[in-house]
Amino acid sequence: MTIENFGQSKLITLKNKNKVIVTITNFGARIVSYKVPLDDGYRDITLHYNCDESYLLIDKYVGATIAPVAGRIANGMTQIKDKWYQLNQNDNGNTLHGGESSCEVQYFNVDSVSDNEVVLSYTFVDGFNGFPGNVDFKVGYRLTNDNELIVHYSARSDKDTIFNPTNHAYFNLSGQFKEAIDNHLFKIDSDFYAPLSDNNLPTGELLAVDNTPFDFRNFKPIKQGFYTDYVQNQLVNGYDHPFLLNENGGVEVISPDEKVTLVMKTDAQSVVIYTYNGEVLPNNKTVTHGVFTLETQTMPNACNIENFGSILLEKDKVFETETIYQVKF
Ligand code: BGC
Repeated sequence: MTIENFGQSKLITLKNKNKVIVTITNFGARIVSYKVPLDDGYRDITLHYNCDESYLLIDKYVGATIAPVAGRIANGMTQIKDKWYQLNQNDNGNTLHGGESSCEVQYFNVDSVSDNEVVLSYTFVDGFNGFPGNVDFKVGYRLTNDNELIVHYSARSDKDTIFNPTNHAYFNLSGQFKEAIDNHLFKIDSDFYAPLSDNNLPTGELLAVDNTPFDFRNFKPIKQGFYTDYVQNQLVNGYDHPFLLNENGGVEVISPDEKVTLVMKTDAQSVVIYTYNGEVLPNNKTVTHGVFTLETQTMPNACNIENFGSILLEKDKVFETETIYQVKF
């Protein structure tokens, strides 16, 4: 383990006995790089920039921890135990990823570091972006000798609130971020996905994946959703959709050269897969469809949709969830 300091910003590098190297920064409790040792050298599979300012200028969500609530909350409004809350509206009248300048741009405290683990913490103050409660939030990253990066989230609030964090790492398993992920093979253990309406909000339905480009129950190239007239893919130019995971369900992705496999496991109910569908800034290090996320969480807008699960975090209760990103090479 090494720590490098750049003012408030710190880079913490974890290594395991197989020479896998993961670098984390306390700026947004962010995954910077995930380097896999191959015969011809290291392959870095996560997009990152070289300084905090670049994240702010280009894309602040790259690799970051997202909280208090991942995804969109319709109209930035929700009810928590009979009381309505108006939250910060940073995305066409909705709340996206916790609202403006949430923890993705905050400097976390480094609580502890060891050879293979770092624990970071941040406290959301009561009323931050409209969310109730002082919420003590911890994010732990542990790299095991089985080549797993275990991301552990925990939180406690002093008021009833809502909480649904995730991670926004952008993967490209070729390490060629300027090349589309078209031929990455995906296996998603999910029978149902949530279709979207305008502004990328879920309609509230769950649709069977059968006979759609959302069926990845056997390995399929992700491009099946890029070159199709299927309305849900056309709507967002790819995927930006929640998949409801089956019991113990996860995701596996294989690089086009088959040298790297990413295995994602989680105790979360669903995973939002976003394939970087929009226009990208000329100074970006990637291209449209150059990367993908595996954002494990409870369904977006669950706080306003009956059958989407609960993200209520009651006062003084402990919230915990874990997601594992394992590499095979
Ligand atoms: C959302 C996208 C959004 C992106 C921002 C994703 O998690 O689902 O709709 O554009 O984050 O980086």
